[in-house]
Formats: sequence, C-alpha cells, structure tokens
Amino acid sequence: MDELAIDGGPKAAEALSIPEWPQPTDTSRAYLLEAFEGGNWCRGPWIERLEDEFAAYHDAKHAIAVSNGTVAIELALRAVGVEPGDEVIVPSYSFIASASVVPAVGAIPRFADTDPETFNIDPDSVREQITDDTVGIIGVHFAGYPIDMDELLPIVEEHDLFLIEDAAHAQGSEWRGQKVGTFGDFGTFSFQESKSLPSGEGGIVVTDNDVLAERARVMQNIGRSQGETGYRHYKLSSNSRMSAFQAAVAIGQLEKLPEENDRREANEKLLLAELEEIDGIHTKPRDDRITARGYCLENVRYDAEAFGGLSRDRFIEAVRAEGVPVYDGYEVPIYKQPAFFRDQVRRLLPPGTDVPDYWNLHLPGAERLCRENVAYSHPVLLADDEGIRTIPAAIRKVKAHADELRER
Ligand SMILES: Cc1ncc(COP(=O)(O)O)c(C=O)c1O
Repeated sequence: MDELAIDGGPKAAEALSIPEWPQPTDTSRAYLLEAFEGGNWCRGPWIERLEDEFAAYHDAKHAIAVSNGTVAIELALRAVGVEPGDEVIVPSYSFIASASVVPAVGAIPRFADTDPETFNIDPDSVREQITDDTVGIIGVHFAGYPIDMDELLPIVEEHDLFLIEDAAHAQGSEWRGQKVGTFGDFGTFSFQESKSLPSGEGGIVVTDNDVLAERARVMQNIGRSQGETGYRHYKLSSNSRMSAFQAAVAIGQLEKLPEENDRREANEKLLLAELEEIDGIHTKPRDDRITARGYCLENVRYDAEAFGGLSRDRFIEAVRAEGVPVYDGYEVPIYKQPAFFRDQVRRLLPPGTDVPDYWNLHLPGAERLCRENVAYSHPVLLADDEGIRTIPAAIRKVKAHADELRER
C-alpha cells in the first residue's frame, strides 16, 4: 500500500488537473475591451445584451442585471413588497446572504431546517415555521441541486406566499425541464468570481411577472421610471445597477457555460458512480426530475464512523494532501453567525418586534451538515476523465490508512 501523501508518499490524485478559475477567455477579454472603448460604461447595450441573453438561457421573460447576488435577493424582497415586521422563511444552511437580506429590509427571518440528503430547505420544516405573519420563502438551490419543487410549490400556493429562489449556485439547473429561478416570483443569481458564470462581482434577477419586473427595474435604478436617466425619482430606493464592464465579461462567460455544465454533469456522474460505492461517503440522491444541473460546488456527507473514527478535519487534510481540493464548507448554520445575535437583528426591525432567539435555535439537519459536509468546487468537475477517477482513488487510499491517521 502506497504511503500517504501527507507523510511524503506519492499523490493518488497527481493526474487531477483543475482549470484555473475564473477563466480570462479571449471572448470576455474582447468584449471587455469593446465596452471600455465603446463609451457606455454604465447602462446601455452591454447590459441589455446580458439581460436578453441570460433571460433566454434561463427561460425567463425578464432579467435585470444588478451589482451582486446579495442585492439581487434584497431587490427581489423589496419588489415583492415585503414590509417591516413581516416574516420570511429562510434557509439555515447556506451563505449568509440567503437570510441576512431579510432583516436588511426590516423583516424577520424564520429559519427552516435543511434536508441532509439534498442540502436544500426542508419542506416539512418550512410548514412548521409558517405563522399568520409569514409572507414568503427564500429557498436556495444549494450547490446547484434544485429544491424539490413538487414539495415546495404546494406550500407556497396553499399559504399564498411569495417565493424567491436564490439560484446563486444554480446557473443552468433545471427541474422537470424548467430552468430554476422561474418557479417563484423571482430567481436571483450571483456572478461573483467563484461562481460558474463569473463577472468579478455581479448578479441578476429573473421573473416572468411583468409587474414585478417593472418594480424591480425602478428600484434597481434609484427610483427612476423604466428607461429614464434624468432626475425624476418615483420610489425611494437604492442603486443596484451593474456596470457595462461586468456585463461584457459575463456575456463572454455565458457563451461557454452550457458546454461546461454538460462536462461537469458527465464528470459528476462518473464520480458519483464510484463515490456511491465507498462506505461512509454519502452522496446526494439521483433524481430524474433534475433534468439539468448547474454547479457552484458539490457536496457529500462524511461518516467518520465508517472511516474508523477518523475525524472529518483529518480526513480532509489527508485527501487534500493527495491532490484533491476538498473543504468543509460552513462551520455554523446561518442562525449561529455572530451577525444573528439578537441585538444586532433587533436594531434593524421595527421597535418592539419580538425577535426570535436565533442563538438558542437548534436545527438538526443544518447542524449535521456543518459537521459532515465535504465539498469540492465546480472547476474540479472540469478535469478530464482520468483526473476525475483519481478522486475516489484518493479517498479509498485515505480510508485504507484511516486507523494509523486517527491514532496520531
Ligand atoms: C447561496 C448564495 N446566495 C447569495 C450569494 C451572494 O452573492 P454575492 O457574493 O454575489 O453577493 C452567495 C454568494 O456566495 C451565495 O452563495
């Protein structure tokens, strides 16, 4: 048996070659230069083109480009008409923006638990959080794996709630042949540099609803009426516009996204077929209703017991040494972030609001994922077949040495 790479042995994943990310492609470079020299650094044809092309790609009627994925969710909340004191159900296992935008508009987040099988919001827990003050739900298609819409949409309809799909991770994902982001009132995306469609910073909101689209456009442009550029402002709101440079880069990146997603999906299938065979590595369910996948990252759950009690941190360290860049993800659920200390949240809400005690909340699914998640980022899935096959080999090698690693 080969010595572990962490002890100076050969790397099991030596052949895993992962492309750099983000990729400064020739097309993005050419568009960026054109935008730079074209005179429209703000608004104008580059923004319009990105909005048209992204709307077409995501099967949405409207797309509105914004400065990042956080303000995209905030804009959607404002456009659906969330008011101070309203309650919004939010995910517990995600990047903080999926929930922190709610107090930012004066509303109260209610955390739903996370399904440890899918890493997505748990519909049963959503039902438990609904009160008379609940106005809507923010759900994340975590890692690009779509939320079970067959379960979530009936809850939305039954309780007359809005649904914002945080699709920051899910450029290109599809549920039953329909692109995500178009099931709810709004879909929101991030184009931050680590995402599969990067523009440095950036984001976009999509909707099929004409009225909501018009509202979002006005609010995105500091209250100006659609298409106006002067000094008439009809709504008190912020400026969340994207620049032409971000749009030009994003258009170039969008051109290669469908092909890249196909490659990622094919590689993931290859990888899953082997990972599923490793006792202690729990992969997400294969679901035929997911008809296409987008990716920001992918996750498995690590069962230390099946690895002879080897801690997840030690496992990750050893696998990384073998050449596979896995990581652990979020250390705490969102409600355990210092930013969710009650006093901090209270300051943003109407005086006298009964703020939930987030610090003492316990949601077992989310907390389990904080302990067991092992993630890899989407560029890993762009490696060649030979490289992909080294990933399970590296995990098996570490497993074979688990006892000696644990005992150190
Ligand atoms: C799930 C999720 N939502 C929202 C965001 C916010 O996007 P941005 O960083 O563009 O503000 C992120 C960013 O990583 C995210 O992962």
